[in-house]
Amino acid sequence: MDSRKTVLITGGLNGIGLEISRACLQSKLYNICVADIAIPQEGSLPIDPFQNIEESQGRYLLLHCDVSKEDHVQQVVSKTVETFSRLDAVINNAAISHPHYGAKDITGLSLEEWNRTVSINLTSIFLTTKYAVPHLKQSKGCIINVSSTRALQSEANTEIYSATKGAVLSLTHSLSISLGPEINVNAISPGWIDVQDHQLGKEREYNLRDLDHRQHPVGRVGRPEDVSKLCLYLIQDGCQEGGGFITGQNFVIDGGMTKKMIYLGEPWWNE
Ligand SMILES: NC(=O)c1ccc[n+]([C@@H]2O[C@H](COP(=O)([O-])OP(=O)(O)OC[C@H]3O[C@@H](n4cnc5c(N)ncnc54)[C@H](O)[C@@H]3O)[C@@H](O)[C@H]2O)c1
Repeated sequence: MDSRKTVLITGGLNGIGLEISRACLQSKLYNICVADIAIPQEGSLPIDPFQNIEESQGRYLLLHCDVSKEDHVQQVVSKTVETFSRLDAVINNAAISHPHYGAKDITGLSLEEWNRTVSINLTSIFLTTKYAVPHLKQSKGCIINVSSTRALQSEANTEIYSATKGAVLSLTHSLSISLGPEINVNAISPGWIDVQDHQLGKEREYNLRDLDHRQHPVGRVGRPEDVSKLCLYLIQDGCQEGGGFITGQNFVIDGGMTKKMIYLGEPWWNE
């Protein structure tokens, strides 16, 4: 009998989600289900994202899923439990951001674009939670929601993304109260994470500048591994025997950017 725990990762085919999926498999502690809209409904992917990981055969499911659709999410949860007999952790990572629509002033944003973003970035977490909770209560598991530092600070014309990511933080602490003590719920808020080398079958589009790195207090832009390491820690903590002690929290991973004062010098300041 397989004693491994099971982790469901939404949007786990690319970017940060791909690194979390790989880290779960590499740890050999978990079986995983990757639920992603980019996985074909029929046929297989041209590249197996886990081909180079030792002993990964039979330990992962790749399922087509639009996380904004209730029937998709319901099927993904039941197929995961049917395959691995249990569900221990859900990582709500799938999201779309403002570049999908270009940087649009709010007067140019359509209601359809607004609603679509809300349904992928926020409603999806309601859906996965609704269907996963009975299984997570049984396994005494955890939920990790991926938010963003844009829940806390903004550039112009990013309202829709910031609003959904802010709501993810409220939903996180609210769920942690409703679902405890069996289920721990936490959020991770990444800053700038360079995911260009984690896009299946795609080349990098641009190179990072020295300035991009230097503006971070830690001296570099983030990498997907920075997020996956914390995510794995939270899964282990949340799924441990007797329950973890961390819930309702938001963990910012941004190289210090949200702690940096960015005024361009006050009149009384000696540069
Ligand atoms: N990369 C960053 O700098 C950064 C910063 C802060 C927060 N985040 C957050 O981290 C998470 C991952 O971001 P990323 O940069 O790795 O993104 P990405 O675009 O590289 O990957 C997102 C994945 O989600 C999938 N997806 C999109 N819509 C979906 C849907 N409707 N149903 C199912 N899957 C869907 C995509 O196919 C893709 O595989 C997101 O929640 C994002 O908001 C990223």
